Amino acid sequence: MGEEGFSSDASLLYHRGVPSAIVDSQVWELLDLSTTPNHPLKPRHLKLHDLPPPVVEPVEDSGRANAVTGRRLVLGNGDVRISYAVASQESPLYRNAIGDECVYVEAGSGTVETVFGVLSYRQGDYVVVPRATTHRWLPAEESRLYAIEANSHIAPPKRYLSRYGQFLEHAPYCERDLHGPGAPLLLEGTDVEVLVKHRGNGPSGIVGTRLTYATHPFDVVGWDGCLYPYTFNVEDFMPITGKIHQPPPVHQVFEGTNFVICNFCPRKVDYHEGSIPVPYYHSNVDSDEVMFYVGGDYEARKGSGIGIGSISLHPGGYAHGPQPSAVEASIGVEYFDELAVMVDTFRPLELGEAGLAVEDPAYAWTWAGRGPDGTDPAVFSNS
Ligand SMILES: [Fe+2]
Repeated sequence: MGEEGFSSDASLLYHRGVPSAIVDSQVWELLDLSTTPNHPLKPRHLKLHDLPPPVVEPVEDSGRANAVTGRRLVLGNGDVRISYAVASQESPLYRNAIGDECVYVEAGSGTVETVFGVLSYRQGDYVVVPRATTHRWLPAEESRLYAIEANSHIAPPKRYLSRYGQFLEHAPYCERDLHGPGAPLLLEGTDVEVLVKHRGNGPSGIVGTRLTYATHPFDVVGWDGCLYPYTFNVEDFMPITGKIHQPPPVHQVFEGTNFVICNFCPRKVDYHEGSIPVPYYHSNVDSDEVMFYVGGDYEARKGSGIGIGSISLHPGGYAHGPQPSAVEASIGVEYFDELAVMVDTFRPLELGEAGLAVEDPAYAWTWAGRGPDGTDPAVFSNS
Protein backbone atom coordinates (compact mmCIF):
# COMPACT_ATOMS: atom_id res chain seq x y z
CA MET A 1 0.00 0.00 0.00
CA GLY A 2 1.24 3.47 -0.85
CA GLU A 3 0.23 7.10 -0.69
CA GLU A 4 -0.06 9.90 -3.22
CA GLY A 5 -0.10 7.80 -6.35
CA PHE A 6 3.02 5.69 -5.73
CA SER A 7 4.96 8.91 -5.02
CA SER A 8 5.12 9.01 -1.23
CA ASP A 9 5.37 6.73 1.81
CA ALA A 10 4.60 3.07 1.11
CA SER A 11 4.96 -0.41 2.58
CA LEU A 12 5.07 -3.87 1.04
CA LEU A 13 2.79 -6.35 2.84
CA TYR A 14 3.36 -10.06 2.26
CA HIS A 15 -0.06 -11.77 2.27
CA ARG A 16 -0.70 -15.52 2.44
CA GLY A 17 -3.98 -15.08 0.57
CA VAL A 18 -5.32 -12.82 -2.14
CA PRO A 19 -6.09 -9.41 -0.57
CA SER A 20 -8.65 -8.57 -3.25
CA ALA A 21 -10.77 -11.74 -2.97
CA ILE A 22 -14.25 -10.56 -1.93
CA VAL A 23 -17.42 -12.63 -2.05
CA ASP A 24 -20.03 -10.01 -1.12
CA SER A 25 -20.63 -6.24 -0.92
CA GLN A 26 -23.51 -4.72 1.05
CA VAL A 27 -24.44 -1.26 2.32
CA TRP A 28 -23.14 -0.28 5.75
CA GLU A 29 -25.51 2.35 7.14
CA LEU A 30 -23.39 4.92 8.99
CA LEU A 31 -24.60 6.79 12.06
CA ASP A 32 -25.89 10.32 11.51
CA LEU A 33 -23.13 12.41 9.89
CA SER A 34 -25.27 15.47 9.22
CA THR A 35 -23.94 18.83 10.44
CA THR A 36 -25.46 22.16 11.47
CA PRO A 37 -23.59 25.42 10.76
CA ASN A 38 -22.36 27.50 13.70
CA HIS A 39 -24.85 30.20 12.85
CA PRO A 40 -25.58 32.64 14.39
CA LEU A 41 -21.89 32.63 15.26
CA LYS A 42 -20.88 32.04 18.86
CA PRO A 43 -18.31 30.17 20.93
CA ARG A 44 -19.55 26.77 22.03
CA HIS A 45 -19.03 24.50 25.03
CA LEU A 46 -19.81 20.83 24.46
CA LYS A 47 -19.81 18.39 27.39
CA LEU A 48 -18.76 15.07 25.91
CA HIS A 49 -19.08 13.20 29.19
CA ASP A 50 -22.83 13.90 29.10
CA LEU A 51 -23.16 12.06 25.79
CA PRO A 52 -25.27 8.89 26.00
CA PRO A 53 -24.11 5.91 23.95
CA PRO A 54 -25.57 5.59 20.47
CA VAL A 55 -28.33 3.17 19.63
CA VAL A 56 -26.59 0.42 17.65
CA GLU A 57 -27.59 -2.96 16.30
CA PRO A 58 -28.26 -5.23 18.05
CA VAL A 59 -30.09 -2.81 20.35
CA GLU A 60 -29.21 -4.77 23.49
CA ASP A 61 -25.56 -3.83 22.84
CA SER A 62 -26.32 -0.09 22.74
CA GLY A 63 -24.92 0.53 26.19
CA ARG A 64 -21.65 -1.15 25.26
CA ALA A 65 -20.61 0.65 22.14
CA ASN A 66 -17.51 -0.17 20.14
CA ALA A 67 -14.84 2.19 18.80
CA VAL A 68 -16.00 2.08 15.19
CA THR A 69 -19.78 1.86 14.85
CA GLY A 70 -20.22 3.59 18.22
CA ARG A 71 -18.63 6.88 17.14
CA ARG A 72 -20.91 9.90 17.32
CA LEU A 73 -20.10 13.00 15.28
CA VAL A 74 -19.29 16.06 17.40
CA LEU A 75 -17.84 18.53 14.88
CA GLY A 76 -16.88 18.35 11.24
CA ASN A 77 -16.16 20.08 7.96
CA GLY A 78 -14.97 19.04 4.52
CA ASP A 79 -11.43 18.34 5.80
CA VAL A 80 -11.79 16.67 9.18
CA ARG A 81 -14.40 15.17 11.49
CA ILE A 82 -14.20 14.80 15.28
CA SER A 83 -16.22 11.98 16.80
CA TYR A 84 -16.44 10.49 20.27
CA ALA A 85 -17.00 6.93 21.44
CA VAL A 86 -17.10 5.27 24.83
CA ALA A 87 -16.10 1.77 23.80
CA SER A 88 -16.18 -1.42 25.83
CA GLN A 89 -16.89 -3.94 23.07
CA GLU A 90 -14.65 -5.33 20.37
CA SER A 91 -15.20 -3.39 17.15
CA PRO A 92 -15.85 -4.94 13.76
CA LEU A 93 -12.98 -5.12 11.30
CA TYR A 94 -12.82 -1.70 9.70
CA ARG A 95 -10.90 0.57 7.43
CA ASN A 96 -11.29 4.23 6.62
CA ALA A 97 -10.71 4.84 2.91
CA ILE A 98 -11.37 8.58 3.25
CA GLY A 99 -8.24 9.54 5.14
CA ASP A 100 -5.94 8.88 8.07
CA GLU A 101 -7.35 8.61 11.56
CA CYS A 102 -5.78 9.95 14.73
CA VAL A 103 -7.65 8.64 17.75
CA TYR A 104 -6.77 10.23 21.09
CA VAL A 105 -7.30 7.87 24.03
CA GLU A 106 -8.81 10.03 26.74
CA ALA A 107 -9.16 7.02 29.03
CA GLY A 108 -8.83 3.26 28.89
CA SER A 109 -6.48 0.74 27.37
CA GLY A 110 -6.47 -2.21 25.05
CA THR A 111 -5.16 -3.24 21.67
CA VAL A 112 -5.70 -2.33 18.05
CA GLU A 113 -5.26 -5.30 15.77
CA THR A 114 -4.13 -4.26 12.29
CA VAL A 115 -3.06 -5.90 9.08
CA PHE A 116 0.48 -4.81 10.06
CA GLY A 117 0.33 -6.43 13.52
CA VAL A 118 -0.92 -5.42 16.97
CA LEU A 119 -0.63 -2.04 18.66
CA SER A 120 -1.30 -1.68 22.36
CA TYR A 121 -2.92 1.55 23.50
CA ARG A 122 -3.29 3.31 26.82
CA GLN A 123 -4.54 6.60 28.21
CA GLY A 124 -2.87 9.57 26.53
CA ASP A 125 -2.02 7.76 23.31
CA TYR A 126 -2.63 9.13 19.88
CA VAL A 127 -3.34 6.09 17.71
CA VAL A 128 -2.49 7.06 14.13
CA VAL A 129 -3.96 4.71 11.53
CA PRO A 130 -3.15 5.36 7.86
CA ARG A 131 -5.94 5.53 5.32
CA ALA A 132 -7.30 2.12 4.28
CA THR A 133 -5.50 0.14 7.01
CA THR A 134 -7.76 -2.76 8.00
CA HIS A 135 -7.96 -2.88 11.79
CA ARG A 136 -10.20 -3.42 14.82
CA TRP A 137 -10.29 -2.07 18.36
CA LEU A 138 -10.29 -4.43 21.36
CA PRO A 139 -10.70 -2.50 24.61
CA ALA A 140 -9.28 -4.23 27.69
CA GLU A 141 -11.30 -1.74 29.73
CA GLU A 142 -13.86 0.92 28.88
CA SER A 143 -12.12 3.38 26.57
CA ARG A 144 -13.02 7.00 25.89
CA LEU A 145 -11.87 7.67 22.34
CA TYR A 146 -11.68 11.06 20.59
CA ALA A 147 -11.46 10.22 16.91
CA ILE A 148 -10.00 12.78 14.52
CA GLU A 149 -10.76 11.56 11.01
CA ALA A 150 -9.03 13.42 8.18
CA ASN A 151 -9.83 13.54 4.50
CA SER A 152 -6.05 13.61 4.05
CA HIS A 153 -2.97 12.17 5.70
CA ILE A 154 -1.93 12.99 9.27
CA ALA A 155 1.78 13.39 9.99
CA PRO A 156 4.29 15.29 12.12
CA PRO A 157 4.74 18.92 11.03
CA LYS A 158 7.31 19.26 8.27
CA ARG A 159 9.26 21.85 10.26
CA TYR A 160 10.07 19.14 12.85
CA LEU A 161 11.79 17.04 10.19
CA SER A 162 15.05 17.12 8.26
CA ARG A 163 14.82 17.12 4.48
CA TYR A 164 15.26 13.34 4.66
CA GLY A 165 12.50 12.91 7.23
CA GLN A 166 14.39 12.54 10.53
CA PHE A 167 13.06 14.40 13.56
CA LEU A 168 15.22 17.44 14.27
CA GLU A 169 16.57 18.08 17.76
CA HIS A 170 14.25 21.04 18.35
CA ALA A 171 11.16 18.90 17.76
CA PRO A 172 9.21 18.15 20.96
CA TYR A 173 9.27 14.41 20.24
CA CYS A 174 11.25 12.02 18.10
CA GLU A 175 11.39 8.53 16.60
CA ARG A 176 11.85 6.75 19.93
CA ASP A 177 8.44 8.05 21.02
CA LEU A 178 6.57 6.42 18.13
CA HIS A 179 5.49 2.82 18.69
CA GLY A 180 4.64 0.69 15.69
CA PRO A 181 3.05 -2.76 15.45
CA GLY A 182 4.66 -5.80 17.01
CA ALA A 183 4.90 -9.29 15.52
CA PRO A 184 2.72 -10.27 12.53
CA LEU A 185 -0.87 -11.15 13.34
CA LEU A 186 -2.09 -14.23 11.46
CA LEU A 187 -5.71 -15.31 11.81
CA GLU A 188 -7.67 -18.03 10.06
CA GLY A 189 -11.14 -17.48 8.71
CA THR A 190 -13.45 -17.55 5.74
CA ASP A 191 -16.18 -15.11 4.72
CA VAL A 192 -14.85 -12.35 6.98
CA GLU A 193 -16.67 -9.01 7.00
CA VAL A 194 -14.80 -5.69 6.87
CA LEU A 195 -16.59 -2.34 7.20
CA VAL A 196 -15.24 0.25 4.77
CA LYS A 197 -15.92 3.97 5.13
CA HIS A 198 -15.41 5.62 1.75
CA ARG A 199 -16.23 8.52 -0.51
CA GLY A 200 -19.72 8.66 -1.96
CA ASN A 201 -22.82 10.74 -2.34
CA GLY A 202 -25.18 11.85 0.37
CA PRO A 203 -25.13 14.99 2.52
CA SER A 204 -21.75 14.21 4.09
CA GLY A 205 -20.12 12.78 0.97
CA ILE A 206 -19.33 9.71 3.09
CA VAL A 207 -20.87 6.26 2.83
CA GLY A 208 -20.16 2.78 4.15
CA THR A 209 -19.87 -0.65 2.61
CA ARG A 210 -19.65 -4.11 4.17
CA LEU A 211 -17.20 -6.17 2.17
CA THR A 212 -16.97 -9.90 2.80
CA TYR A 213 -13.53 -11.42 2.19
CA ALA A 214 -13.04 -15.02 1.15
CA THR A 215 -10.23 -15.42 3.70
CA HIS A 216 -9.20 -13.52 6.81
CA PRO A 217 -7.54 -10.17 5.97
CA PHE A 218 -5.07 -10.62 8.83
CA ASP A 219 -2.81 -12.87 6.76
CA VAL A 220 0.33 -10.73 6.48
CA VAL A 221 3.44 -12.68 7.44
CA GLY A 222 5.62 -9.59 7.35
CA TRP A 223 5.96 -6.15 5.86
CA ASP A 224 8.58 -3.52 5.24
CA GLY A 225 8.37 0.15 4.47
CA CYS A 226 7.67 3.51 6.08
CA LEU A 227 3.86 3.47 6.05
CA TYR A 228 2.32 1.84 9.12
CA PRO A 229 0.09 2.59 12.12
CA TYR A 230 1.71 3.78 15.32
CA THR A 231 1.01 5.28 18.72
CA PHE A 232 2.48 8.34 20.40
CA ASN A 233 1.76 9.12 24.04
CA VAL A 234 1.15 12.70 25.09
CA GLU A 235 3.42 12.18 28.13
CA ASP A 236 6.34 11.86 25.70
CA PHE A 237 5.70 15.34 24.32
CA MET A 238 8.42 17.65 25.69
CA PRO A 239 6.82 21.10 25.98
CA ILE A 240 8.70 24.10 24.60
CA THR A 241 8.47 26.95 27.10
CA GLY A 242 9.73 30.54 27.14
CA LYS A 243 10.41 33.68 29.12
CA ILE A 244 7.33 35.18 27.49
CA HIS A 245 4.18 33.56 26.13
CA GLN A 246 4.80 30.92 23.48
CA PRO A 247 2.17 30.79 20.73
CA PRO A 248 0.27 27.57 19.98
CA PRO A 249 2.54 26.28 17.17
CA VAL A 250 5.07 25.21 19.85
CA HIS A 251 2.40 22.81 21.07
CA GLN A 252 1.81 21.20 17.68
CA VAL A 253 2.00 17.43 17.42
CA PHE A 254 0.50 16.56 13.98
CA GLU A 255 -0.87 18.17 10.86
CA GLY A 256 -3.30 17.21 8.11
CA THR A 257 -4.58 19.12 5.12
CA ASN A 258 -6.29 22.28 6.39
CA PHE A 259 -5.97 21.42 10.09
CA VAL A 260 -3.41 20.93 12.86
CA ILE A 261 -3.40 18.95 16.11
CA CYS A 262 -1.70 20.47 19.17
CA ASN A 263 -1.51 19.47 22.82
CA PHE A 264 -1.20 21.68 25.88
CA CYS A 265 0.73 19.62 28.42
CA PRO A 266 1.69 20.16 32.06
CA ARG A 267 4.60 22.59 31.87
CA LYS A 268 6.62 25.40 33.37
CA VAL A 269 5.07 28.66 32.23
CA ASP A 270 6.40 32.09 31.23
CA TYR A 271 9.13 33.19 33.59
CA HIS A 272 9.53 36.88 32.78
CA GLU A 273 9.00 38.85 36.03
CA GLY A 274 6.04 40.69 34.47
CA SER A 275 4.49 37.79 32.63
CA ILE A 276 0.83 36.86 32.66
CA PRO A 277 0.96 33.13 31.99
CA VAL A 278 -2.54 32.62 30.58
CA PRO A 279 -2.93 33.54 26.90
CA TYR A 280 -3.72 37.06 25.74
CA TYR A 281 -7.03 37.66 23.95
CA HIS A 282 -6.45 36.58 20.41
CA SER A 283 -8.16 36.40 17.07
CA ASN A 284 -6.72 33.57 15.02
CA VAL A 285 -8.44 34.90 11.93
CA ASP A 286 -7.97 31.91 9.63
CA SER A 287 -9.00 29.15 12.03
CA ASP A 288 -11.71 27.55 14.10
CA GLU A 289 -10.17 26.29 17.35
CA VAL A 290 -11.36 23.18 19.19
CA MET A 291 -9.97 22.44 22.63
CA PHE A 292 -10.66 19.11 24.32
CA TYR A 293 -9.90 19.30 28.04
CA VAL A 294 -8.63 15.93 29.19
CA GLY A 295 -6.60 16.41 32.35
CA GLY A 296 -5.44 18.71 35.13
CA ASP A 297 -6.98 22.07 35.74
CA TYR A 298 -7.15 24.33 32.71
CA GLU A 299 -6.11 27.76 34.03
CA ALA A 300 -7.41 29.98 31.23
CA ARG A 301 -10.92 28.55 31.38
CA LYS A 302 -11.57 29.02 35.12
CA GLY A 303 -15.01 30.51 35.55
CA SER A 304 -16.37 29.20 32.27
CA GLY A 305 -18.02 25.97 33.38
CA ILE A 306 -15.50 23.98 31.38
CA GLY A 307 -14.17 20.83 32.99
CA ILE A 308 -12.66 17.47 32.11
CA GLY A 309 -14.39 16.04 29.06
CA SER A 310 -15.43 19.46 27.78
CA ILE A 311 -14.83 20.84 24.32
CA SER A 312 -14.64 24.53 23.55
CA LEU A 313 -15.14 25.73 19.99
CA HIS A 314 -13.81 29.23 19.35
CA PRO A 315 -14.64 30.02 15.74
CA GLY A 316 -12.92 32.28 13.27
CA GLY A 317 -14.43 35.78 13.36
CA TYR A 318 -14.61 35.76 17.15
CA ALA A 319 -11.77 37.00 19.42
CA HIS A 320 -11.30 34.80 22.45
CA GLY A 321 -9.16 34.50 25.54
CA PRO A 322 -9.20 33.67 29.23
CA GLN A 323 -12.17 34.18 31.45
CA PRO A 324 -11.57 37.58 33.12
CA SER A 325 -10.77 36.25 36.61
CA ALA A 326 -8.25 33.79 35.15
CA VAL A 327 -5.91 36.60 34.05
CA GLU A 328 -5.33 37.93 37.57
CA ALA A 329 -5.29 34.45 39.09
CA SER A 330 -2.43 33.38 36.85
CA ILE A 331 0.03 36.12 37.86
CA GLY A 332 2.99 34.59 39.66
CA VAL A 333 2.04 31.02 38.75
CA GLU A 334 5.07 29.01 37.64
CA TYR A 335 3.50 25.76 36.46
CA PHE A 336 0.27 24.77 34.72
CA ASP A 337 -1.05 21.32 35.46
CA GLU A 338 -3.29 21.10 32.42
CA LEU A 339 -3.78 18.75 29.54
CA ALA A 340 -5.78 19.57 26.44
CA VAL A 341 -5.83 18.40 22.84
CA MET A 342 -6.47 21.12 20.27
CA VAL A 343 -7.59 20.86 16.66
CA ASP A 344 -7.41 24.06 14.61
CA THR A 345 -9.15 23.97 11.26
CA PHE A 346 -8.79 26.39 8.38
CA ARG A 347 -12.37 25.88 7.24
CA PRO A 348 -15.30 26.48 9.58
CA LEU A 349 -16.53 23.61 11.67
CA GLU A 350 -20.17 22.61 11.84
CA LEU A 351 -21.86 20.84 14.74
CA GLY A 352 -22.62 17.15 14.51
CA GLU A 353 -25.58 15.53 16.20
CA ALA A 354 -23.50 14.62 19.26
CA GLY A 355 -22.17 18.16 19.61
CA LEU A 356 -25.68 19.60 19.50
CA ALA A 357 -26.87 17.06 22.07
CA VAL A 358 -24.44 18.14 24.80
CA GLU A 359 -24.05 21.90 24.33
CA ASP A 360 -23.92 24.19 27.38
CA PRO A 361 -25.90 27.16 26.10
CA ALA A 362 -24.58 29.57 28.76
CA TYR A 363 -20.92 29.41 27.67
CA ALA A 364 -21.00 32.17 25.06
CA TRP A 365 -21.97 34.76 27.67
CA THR A 366 -19.42 33.86 30.38
CA TRP A 367 -16.94 36.62 29.49
CA ALA A 368 -19.59 39.32 29.81
CA GLY A 369 -21.33 37.76 32.80
CA ARG A 370 -24.74 38.16 31.24
CA GLY A 371 -26.53 36.88 28.18
CA PRO A 372 -29.43 37.99 26.02
CA ASP A 373 -31.95 37.53 28.83
CA GLY A 374 -29.88 39.73 31.17
CA THR A 375 -29.38 37.03 33.81
CA ASP A 376 -26.04 35.80 35.05
CA PRO A 377 -24.94 32.54 33.47
CA ALA A 378 -25.32 29.85 36.07
CA VAL A 379 -21.82 28.62 35.31
CA PHE A 380 -20.36 31.65 37.09
CA SER A 381 -20.96 29.83 40.35
CA ASN A 382 -17.61 28.08 39.96
CA SER A 383 -15.49 31.13 39.04
FE1 LIG B 1 -7.04 30.21 21.09
